[in-house]
Amino acid sequence: MILHGTMSVNGKGYLGIGGCDTVELARKFGTPLYVIDEALFRQKCREYYREFIEKNKAEVVYAAKALLTAAICRLVEEEGLGLDIVSGGELYTALQAGFPVSRLYFHGNNKSAAEIKFALEAGVGYFVVDNLYELEMLNHLAKEIPTQVNILLRVTPGVEAHTHEYIKTGQIDSKFGLVIENGQALAGIKRALEMNGVKLNGLHCHIGSQIFELESYEHTAEVLLNFSAQVYRETGWVPADLNLGGGLGIYYAAGDRPCSIQEYAEVLITALQKNALKHHLSVPRLIVEPGRSICGPAGSTVYTVGAVKNIPGVRKYVTVDGGMSDNPRPALYQSRYEACLASKAAQPPVETVSVAGKCCESGDMLIWDIELPLVEPGDILVVSCTGAYNYTMSMNYNRLPRPAMVLVNDGQADLILQRETYSDLIRNEVLPERLKKSRRVNIAVCKV
Ligand code: LLP
Repeated sequence: MILHGTMSVNGKGYLGIGGCDTVELARKFGTPLYVIDEALFRQKCREYYREFIEKNKAEVVYAAKALLTAAICRLVEEEGLGLDIVSGGELYTALQAGFPVSRLYFHGNNKSAAEIKFALEAGVGYFVVDNLYELEMLNHLAKEIPTQVNILLRVTPGVEAHTHEYIKTGQIDSKFGLVIENGQALAGIKRALEMNGVKLNGLHCHIGSQIFELESYEHTAEVLLNFSAQVYRETGWVPADLNLGGGLGIYYAAGDRPCSIQEYAEVLITALQKNALKHHLSVPRLIVEPGRSICGPAGSTVYTVGAVKNIPGVRKYVTVDGGMSDNPRPALYQSRYEACLASKAAQPPVETVSVAGKCCESGDMLIWDIELPLVEPGDILVVSCTGAYNYTMSMNYNRLPRPAMVLVNDGQADLILQRETYSDLIRNEVLPERLKKSRRVNIAVCKV
């Protein structure tokens, strides 16, 4: 496993993160445990801040969907980034954490009237409008307040990013955004320009996630500016803001070759300037919405090894006390991860094993064929780069309580998310009075 951020092997031969011994963290907080390396999280925010905001007067909006808790909101705010939210729940979290509303960007392809009202009343800075239904509803609800709300219109540029089918979004056949090619996007712009409740500030698109080829972004910038030139000719309106979404890929396992944040910024800025110049348009303010490339490498998951099943000549299964419930990505996207035995971090690998989760699904495998030192029950296993889309997509399958999360820095570990308890699991359940006493009841027979 590659050591990310502040990871190191300490004097005891154990894996340390943020100056904390992971074996000790496992003992103190229990497992599975999400560990966030604060220094690495902040470092990534700062790289984005330097390359986009400082050098190029662009805006960086952290995508909350990748990882969000109150503590994460605080880090994002302290590092000077905005926040991309996609639901009433994310908005509520941001508000509770005191995040400045003017730097909230509200996305989502099916915002409900209740969510829109909530966001309008809170004074959310920008709405990223996904479709005409939402546009009409937003205009109507904004006028009721009354207010004029800043919007970006999400368009579908028809760019195919090279990434997993489920996480690409830029192609025409997508549930997101108004299609440029067939005129829907232009019609949306014209309609928005007629409205009093909204102020059309610019355009938004997002081509997908975990992207390694920067050419896809170059191409997207070109498509968006070609389109902007067409819109200008037809309406006289030019986008002040151009939000090109998130998606920068990260290293998960051998073979992954991510681009740096600096390269990403250079490619986007150059493409924007070049294409604006080509069309004699003023260069729009660039907005990017990184999620994974900020929080992904900063997160690790600490597990305890339980059952070890060896099938001679076939495979050795090493089972941990979590799995798809805290990290559904391998099961959903065949994602690959690296891991190490934190309790034997100084020992060389001696065997090839596969790491299984404890859920009742054969597909609940975290890592196939990984080389580790001799694995025994009780060992502490750490999977790296689990910061993005692990906790946010975690679930209670098999009624497994979700893990706790700690923020580590400089030898200090702070709990930022409590471990769920069994009582949390049944907290919202209601047992009707008539089921409290055991008895047999007559049922109406369904005729098929
Ligand atoms: N902006 C928009 C409009 C998005 O839809 C997304 C991600 C982002 C920004 C942030 O993208 P990032 O920089 O994190 O790649 N659950 C999947 C990823 C889904 C991505 C959804 N949208 C996974 O685990 O890989």
